[in-house]
Amino acid sequence: MSTLSPTQQHALAEHVWLHFSQMAKFQRPDANPRILVRGEGSHVWDQDGNEYIDALAGLFTVNAGYGRTEIVEAMAAQLHQIGYVSPFSFPSVPVIDLAAKLATIAPTGAGSRSFFVNSGSEAVETALKMAKSYHVRRGEPQRTKVIARRVAYHGTTMGALSVNGVTPYRTGFGPLVPGARHVPPPYRYRCASCMLQSACSNKCANEFEAMIEFEDPSTVAAVIMEPVQNSGGALVSPPDYLRRVREICDHYGVVMILDEVINGFGRVGGWFGSSELGAQPDIITVAKAITNGYAPLGAAIAAKHIADTFLGDEADMFMHGSTFGGHVASAAAALANIRIIEREGLHERARVVGPQIMQSLRETIGSHPNVGDIRGMGMFIAIELVRDKATRESLAGEENLMYWLSDQLVQRGVLCRSDDRMEPVIQIAPPLNMPQEDIDQVVQTIGEVVHVLGRKLGSTPQQHSVTRRPVSPAAVTTLEIAA
Ligand SMILES: Cc1ncc(COP(=O)(O)O)c(C=O)c1O
Repeated sequence: MSTLSPTQQHALAEHVWLHFSQMAKFQRPDANPRILVRGEGSHVWDQDGNEYIDALAGLFTVNAGYGRTEIVEAMAAQLHQIGYVSPFSFPSVPVIDLAAKLATIAPTGAGSRSFFVNSGSEAVETALKMAKSYHVRRGEPQRTKVIARRVAYHGTTMGALSVNGVTPYRTGFGPLVPGARHVPPPYRYRCASCMLQSACSNKCANEFEAMIEFEDPSTVAAVIMEPVQNSGGALVSPPDYLRRVREICDHYGVVMILDEVINGFGRVGGWFGSSELGAQPDIITVAKAITNGYAPLGAAIAAKHIADTFLGDEADMFMHGSTFGGHVASAAAALANIRIIEREGLHERARVVGPQIMQSLRETIGSHPNVGDIRGMGMFIAIELVRDKATRESLAGEENLMYWLSDQLVQRGVLCRSDDRMEPVIQIAPPLNMPQEDIDQVVQTIGEVVHVLGRKLGSTPQQHSVTRRPVSPAAVTTLEIAA
């Protein structure tokens, strides 16, 4: 039972508008919303006192875990000094310090310059405008097209939406920003070229070149992609893929933008996906985990050769900005958060613990008939579910599967995400400091839910016994799945 007062229930039903959510469900008399009110470490509690393990770090955001008083204190200290500084007119101390810190860790190099905004969508928007504006300054104003990848999610504002590769998200909002093109993502499990080969052919990287040639290279401004693509389920760029894209961009004079909104700040191991995968982008976009979720902040971080084209007189400036871009409290939160990640080595932990989680998942459910693929990088993991493991027959179209999966997980006290923007996947992206016992619990719960799914689909017998080795090399447990 929800402990919301009748007035609050009415307000939720009539006045609140959640993102990507059907609000009608909150108007039903039996609506029982979960209102999260507290977080500590990897755990969150709802208003009724129910406890959950958060295996999605909020929304790929709370990488350093909940309850970070140090971040709150850094924000408070800053706000006691001054609560607002206009980014149109004045640099602020936390923004200066944050930009300096980012230049030491960003894959765009030591000369990086950060343009702060409020969200990932705005960061993408900014990067796209920056790339186009860069070409204008270099005498190539006809370079306006941007090549992105199918199924990729880059945000909801009009520019970011236009490069978005998720068709239903774009539908109904036209006309979009012209010039967006899409190529297939690297998706080894179902790749038409190399799914059955022993090695990846990297053909998907060459798709960028084919598209640039087809469109006329002199019209292409930028490419944009995530080093590890979230939408579709942790699609890791194969070895050499990003190096090949870099080569193509250099050859055709195209700006390479890598969207690190999820990958950044330790999620895939190391500070950024670009650096982990050996890529040197011209611009990266960041947001989400930069403040550990304590305050909104995004940035487009440009390599020196990009940023320097905007130096000169007043007419050369980047004609772009927003009132709250680089808010002092957000910048202070980011600095404190980066200190925590660095001090506790959370980005490095992701490199080690992520593969252990994947191994544990493989041992627990790897041979299950409905588990097609377990993939990812660092602590950014997806389990692709199939109707038939042998034929890789898709489960797409199975009615209400995503809702059912999320519900099964949450009923067992685990929050993670079920996603079917491509094939159905369960996504796991826990706080990078999630303790071992919670990781074991998440793996066990996912194992249980996959076995319940198997019985629902008729793929496994009604009674099934799973031997599960926890991530920790300690005890081996056997869990009985009830019919
Ligand atoms: C890769 C990527 N880029 C951009 C965005 C947009 O970020 P925001 O929701 O902060 O606008 C997201 C959001 O999930 C994302 O995953």
